[in-house]
Amino acid sequence: MSAPLLAGKVVVISGVGPGLGRGLAIQCAKAGADVVLAARSESRLAGVAKEVEDLGRRAVTVPTDITDPAACERLADTVRDTFGRADGLVNNAFAPPPLTDLTTVDLDAVRAGFETNVLAALRLTRLFVPVLEEARGSVVMINSAVLRHSRRTFGAYKMAKAALLAMTQTLSTELGPRGVRVNTIAPGYIWADNLKWYFEHLAKKRGVPAQQVYDESAATTDLRRLPEPDEVADAVVFMLSPLARAVTGQCLDVNSGEWHH
Ligand SMILES: NC(=O)c1ccc[n+]([C@@H]2O[C@H](COP(=O)([O-])OP(=O)(O)OC[C@H]3O[C@@H](n4cnc5c(N)ncnc54)[C@H](OP(=O)(O)O)[C@@H]3O)[C@@H](O)[C@H]2O)c1
Repeated sequence: MSAPLLAGKVVVISGVGPGLGRGLAIQCAKAGADVVLAARSESRLAGVAKEVEDLGRRAVTVPTDITDPAACERLADTVRDTFGRADGLVNNAFAPPPLTDLTTVDLDAVRAGFETNVLAALRLTRLFVPVLEEARGSVVMINSAVLRHSRRTFGAYKMAKAALLAMTQTLSTELGPRGVRVNTIAPGYIWADNLKWYFEHLAKKRGVPAQQVYDESAATTDLRRLPEPDEVADAVVFMLSPLARAVTGQCLDVNSGEWHH
């Protein structure tokens, strides 16, 4: 039997929340990696760490606000002291930007979104470059299908994720010669708690069953179903793994075929 895709590797995940963040931790662990979990809520980190340990992998939790440079340095130091290596960094942390037209949106709110969603991801990546270079590792930025459409009120979100895409491409060019790959994954819908709550809310407002809202959304995808967190996370596992050893500077859409790119 061949070794799991991430056997012997250490993957650092920023923004471990209940949705994709948790899915990333679990799928990386199932693929054989030890994981470092970073977000602000200690209790959530502990819960996800327990799930990882139950799978037989090591999980180290480091409560971190990625907008705080000192906290990010502590995170990088902890990884170096604990494992002496890092093979993957997944920038998943996300602060929802304002959902308002760009013609009227509060610019300070847009700036605050950029701080977490773009600049903090860049700061974290820069701190991990030396260890990633030693391991010939890779970085994955979590993007969004917002890249693919121009709907009103999504402007600030799209600006942040478009910047993340641009950053991915340029970092790939800068770090490729040093053996570090940088890619991005663009999910559309992710069928997890946030979306379930939102569909319930829409269904109540319209007086229809939540399943109808799901079916209408799923009907806009080729596969007629909404991807689950583990399915998006598996695309990240692929990007982190040796199977993607010649893939860098790319954006992989994981959206059941809702948007073609
Ligand atoms: N949900 C969707 O349908 C969807 C669709 C397309 C793309 N995406 C992308 O997928 C990624 C994950 O989204 P998700 O909704 O599934 O979220 P999630 O992984 O469940 O949680 C993200 C976590 O980021 C953490 N975070 C926010 N600010 C932070 C900070 N300053 N420092 C450290 N951690 C911070 C928050 O945890 P703490 O509060 O504990 O810090 C939050 O729980 C995001 O990049 C998002 O843009 C999501």
